[in-house]
Amino acid sequence: MLDLTKLKDYKEPITMLTTYDALFAKLFDPLVDMLLVGDSLNMSFAGEKDTLSATMDMMIYHTRVVSRETKSSCVVCDMPFGSYTDKHLALKNASRVYQETDAHAVKIEGGESRADIIKHLTSNSIAVVGHIGLMPQNARLEGGYKIKGRTKKEIDQLLKDAKVVQEAGAFAIVIEGVIAEVAQMITKELEIPTIGIGSGNQTDGQVLVWSDMLGLYQEFKPKFVKQYLNGAELVQNAVKEYVKEVKSRKFPSEEYTY
Ligand code: KIV
Repeated sequence: MLDLTKLKDYKEPITMLTTYDALFAKLFDPLVDMLLVGDSLNMSFAGEKDTLSATMDMMIYHTRVVSRETKSSCVVCDMPFGSYTDKHLALKNASRVYQETDAHAVKIEGGESRADIIKHLTSNSIAVVGHIGLMPQNARLEGGYKIKGRTKKEIDQLLKDAKVVQEAGAFAIVIEGVIAEVAQMITKELEIPTIGIGSGNQTDGQVLVWSDMLGLYQEFKPKFVKQYLNGAELVQNAVKEYVKEVKSRKFPSEEYTY
């Protein structure tokens, strides 16, 4: 598997994209370093309003199809809300990820408060990616998606979270929705690579949700999302064209007929 620490040492930014199905896994795998089967699939794939109702079975299913098609990227399965409330449950569920899919690692949201869980997983041979800062699984608890690192108290806690997650054995850490200077400071303090989302460009890598960066998810667009494709418009134009051709009996023409 890719040595992420080397990329940090060489200062070569790590690329990560979320991926939920085999079709896109095949397209992304040769291009990016890491594929995250994020619980964001509950929103952009399943149409729910947040990530909280994603289940272990859903994550296993999507991780299985993604990891089956992946040859070179590091595949990470997000542990969904409620699947790691204590270290024993976490190990039981993370073991399922290893036994039922070809994923290389799991991702756990939480810093200091989740350190014992991360330690329990890593000491039981499960590779873990941490996730600190804005944690979407806290959306209902915190009443929305709140950018972190604006106050001294928050900055101190973020630094502590990052260090504790590293000490617990995580091999990389996602930093989401954190003020850029703070994310940079954490990156400098850590030996493991940081992968940022909405946290500026000085982390060791970047992750985006695939349907956001391809312009397919239309419910809302956070400031940090750059749309590299106007996917929704392109898809709708193609579908309009198909409908027009079927209605006018232009499709299927001779070329598509036996
Ligand atoms: O679920 C997800 O897609 C994530 C990313 C936002 C990092 O956790």
